[in-house]
Amino acid sequence: MTSKYKRTFANILFLTGSCLLLYFLFNAPPETTKPLPRDQDHERFMTMSKKKAEQACDSCHGPGEKNQLPETHPPKYRCLFCHKRK
Ligand code: HEC
Ligand code: HEC
Repeated sequence: MTSKYKRTFANILFLTGSCLLLYFLFNAPPETTKPLPRDQDHERFMTMSKKKAEQACDSCHGPGEKNQLPETHPPKYRCLFCHKRK
């Protein structure tokens, strides 16, 4: 093979690889975690900083509170990374 053909071949390989990667990224499963509810209890968290908002979650969802999270809840660090504000 001449070097010109090699380069063409390498380019095609690169393009194919890139397309495959994009294909997999766009096929990622949709987000299924529930967003932060839009109601009286949660409305005020929509506008404040995430860090500040997260300090308040425990007052209702913390251990021993009314809306305590179930045992099976995933790791709870940074609530709003998973429960998006919409
Ligand atoms: C004033 C009390 C209160 C505070 C503070 C609070 N919540 Fe809630 N939350 C509730 C109640 C009550 C429910 C159950 C009723 C509902 O679905 O709205 C609930 C439900 C939820 C749900 C489940 C929604 C669903 O569709 O099942 C999520 C997620 C949630 N809260 C996240 C948060 C996060 C994150 C914070 C902190 C930013 C927070 N909450 C702060 C009272 C509170
Ligand atoms: C790693 C991602 C993640 C983080 C961080 C997280 N959650 Fe969740 N949460 C989930 C998933 C997944 C569920 C299961 C139900 C669902 O699909 O929403 C859930 C469910 C809930 C529910 C509903 C529970 C029920 O009784 O059905 C509430 C309320 C909730 N989370 C509040 C919070 C609060 C408050 C924090 C921060 C202290 C938090 N979450 C942090 C992923 C997360």
